[in-house]
Amino acid sequence: MNIQGIRRTYDDRARRYDATVGRAENLMLGDFRRQFGALMVGETLEIGVGSGLNLPWYTASVRWCAGLDLSTGMMDVARERAARLGLPMRFVQGDAQHLPFPDGAFDTVGVSLALCTVPNPEQALREMARVCRPAGRIVLLEHVLSPYWPVALLERAMTPLQSRAIGCHFDRETIETARRAGLRIESEQARRLGVFRLAVARPGGSPG
Ligand SMILES: C[S@@+](CC[C@H](N)C(=O)[O-])C[C@H]1O[C@@H](n2cnc3c(N)ncnc32)[C@H](O)[C@@H]1O
Repeated sequence: MNIQGIRRTYDDRARRYDATVGRAENLMLGDFRRQFGALMVGETLEIGVGSGLNLPWYTASVRWCAGLDLSTGMMDVARERAARLGLPMRFVQGDAQHLPFPDGAFDTVGVSLALCTVPNPEQALREMARVCRPAGRIVLLEHVLSPYWPVALLERAMTPLQSRAIGCHFDRETIETARRAGLRIESEQARRLGVFRLAVARPGGSPG
């Protein structure tokens, strides 16, 4: 699915998104969103911010936050959420593969459940490293290909349908892709047979 298709898909689903992910997401992610929020500090950027499901977990360590997404429909929901929470936030429509920010602009750059959909995740990860300060932090909460083969088999089988329907790929190895993009992975946790990962990375490293 191309960028226009992804944007349309999420615009169409924006008002249903929270209800759709609903309970399944607690079961799948456990406390990963809470940890994600706690890792966002200083001047922050959340890529593919969507409807803002991470925002309730942000702490007072966030000085201000930029939220970027392709879908203005999703960001409208996030904007309402940020206003209810009283978060210092601004929203920018844009593509994760070409971030409209200068080098080293943010202390923390985070992304959750969006690199599965970005057409070129390696390019997006390079962009995240570019806009992160050298001593800053990159936080990745993503679903990836499981290391357990029966699960991986299922994920591979489901990907063609899922990618055609909503642009999402179950078969990505996003943490490896981050390493290839030059990020230095400092910690990584896995849940649900290794499908869900929470990784903390630094922008420095040598691109492969
Ligand atoms: C599955 S939703 C996840 C939303 C949110 N991060 C969350 O954890 O609930 C994927 C989001 O990524 C956005 N997205 C997909 N491709 C993108 C791209 N190339 N640039 C920016 N946002 C993108 C979609 O519009 C959508 O809001």
